[in-house]
Amino acid sequence: CVGISHAYVIFGATGNLAVTKLLPALYQLHCAGYLADDVEILGCGRTPFTSETWRAEVRQQLLARDEVETVALDNFVQRLDYLAGSLKDAAFYQSLGEWIGNDGECANNVIFYLSISPDLYVEVTEGLAAAHLLEESQGFRRMVIEKPFGHDLESARTLQHSLSEHLKEEQIYRIDHYVGKEAVQNLLVLRFANLILEPLWNRHHIDHIQITHAETVGVEGRANYYDHSGGAVRDMIQSHLLQVMALLAMEPPVSLEAEALRNEKVKVLQSIRPVDLEQLEMYAIRGQYAAGEVKGQPVPGYLQEEGVAAGSHTESYAAMKLYIDNWRWKDVPFYLRTGKRLQERRSLVAVRFKQPPMQLFQGSGIYQPHPNWLLIGIQPEDAVRMEISAKVPGLEMRTRQIVMDASVSTPGERKAEAYEELLLDVIKGDRSLFLRYDEVKAAWVVVDPVMQRWAQDEQLPLQYPAGGWGPKAAEKIFGDSGRAWRHTLSCNGGE
Ligand code: BG6
Repeated sequence: CVGISHAYVIFGATGNLAVTKLLPALYQLHCAGYLADDVEILGCGRTPFTSETWRAEVRQQLLARDEVETVALDNFVQRLDYLAGSLKDAAFYQSLGEWIGNDGECANNVIFYLSISPDLYVEVTEGLAAAHLLEESQGFRRMVIEKPFGHDLESARTLQHSLSEHLKEEQIYRIDHYVGKEAVQNLLVLRFANLILEPLWNRHHIDHIQITHAETVGVEGRANYYDHSGGAVRDMIQSHLLQVMALLAMEPPVSLEAEALRNEKVKVLQSIRPVDLEQLEMYAIRGQYAAGEVKGQPVPGYLQEEGVAAGSHTESYAAMKLYIDNWRWKDVPFYLRTGKRLQERRSLVAVRFKQPPMQLFQGSGIYQPHPNWLLIGIQPEDAVRMEISAKVPGLEMRTRQIVMDASVSTPGERKAEAYEELLLDVIKGDRSLFLRYDEVKAAWVVVDPVMQRWAQDEQLPLQYPAGGWGPKAAEKIFGDSGRAWRHTLSCNGGE
């Protein structure tokens, strides 16, 4: 894609996402030679910067990060321009049109990145459309939309309807940064570039699958968004974790083309069995962190965080048990959980295989049957581990669990950040890692009834002390199956 002239227009250029993810990602693409010489990046925001003061600001912000090289940085900031204004103001779109018009060949192709409050998505689209900035007369016009796409099924439908009045589906890039993570893409490689997993990857051999995204951070100054439009289900499960589940469970796609991949993912999402609301606590559990200690530091509870509404019922932890009603997965539970202010920052997939049909070694009295586990670390480690049983050396026929362990990256290898991959894909016009509307809709269909039921609940979510692994009651989701959460990649242990 080196050589594709374009302009990257970032709405919300001074916001947290732009500062911490988008601009660093564009800087990396610049360094790696993926941005054509004439590519320009226009920041738009309400803060009254000039192009010059914004460049200085971005330079400072990037310098504060690791891996920044000053000569490359100085060249990079020359690509930046800034347009101050209100997104509610028609004059702003006029000025934007003039900037695009004056920007030579690179601005035949324009990417608009909406890194702004979701309430403004429609207004900005309408503003751009009214100024004729979405028309693809000479090149492309693409719009990148951050999650959440709607805050429930109904609002997602309305949003889709409004967007599709002005944009063709091929112009819309619904981003889910989780899918851009190296380790999440590696799920596809593990499954479909190897033959050894596929024959076992079904209800006959897999007992259950756990998908965990645990964080040590709290709402981190994002209470405004999180408390009103977020909550663990909307913020993480509806998007990121259901995407991971779809990648784990889907059938082999016919190719890696966007439609081929998305066709398979959507089938999984559409096959998820509706949660049984009559026995909700067996299927979905929510929690909210209370004050506690994370990594030895005292931290306030969710309700004491600045910007959180008094008595808020927003959940900072959620666990769900889901089933996929299809031939491959019927009756295999998928346990999804996520939480803030937990003990460790860790995302992992844990696949537990069934026990062999007959235990030859039971008679020893020492043997404890260990099921096989496949553990796939998403972050911080991108490791793949397989726990298997092996003979303990010696004269007795005793077994113990051993671990086959591999790190996906080798020391010193630079891992691309999710946003680098995704921003580059937008330039290339590759939508395979972006979500199609029917996927988003199917995901809302799964979580919406649960959220509605919780909204009627007068009780606060279960309180859990910050620094632990969430509410104790989250274990209830396993019923009497004998299953338990795998919190880490370390060996379950023991002979
Ligand atoms: C974001 C959520 O989409 O993903 C955040 O809004 C969450 O609340 C984040 O912390 C987690 O992703 P990552 O890549 O930072 O682990």
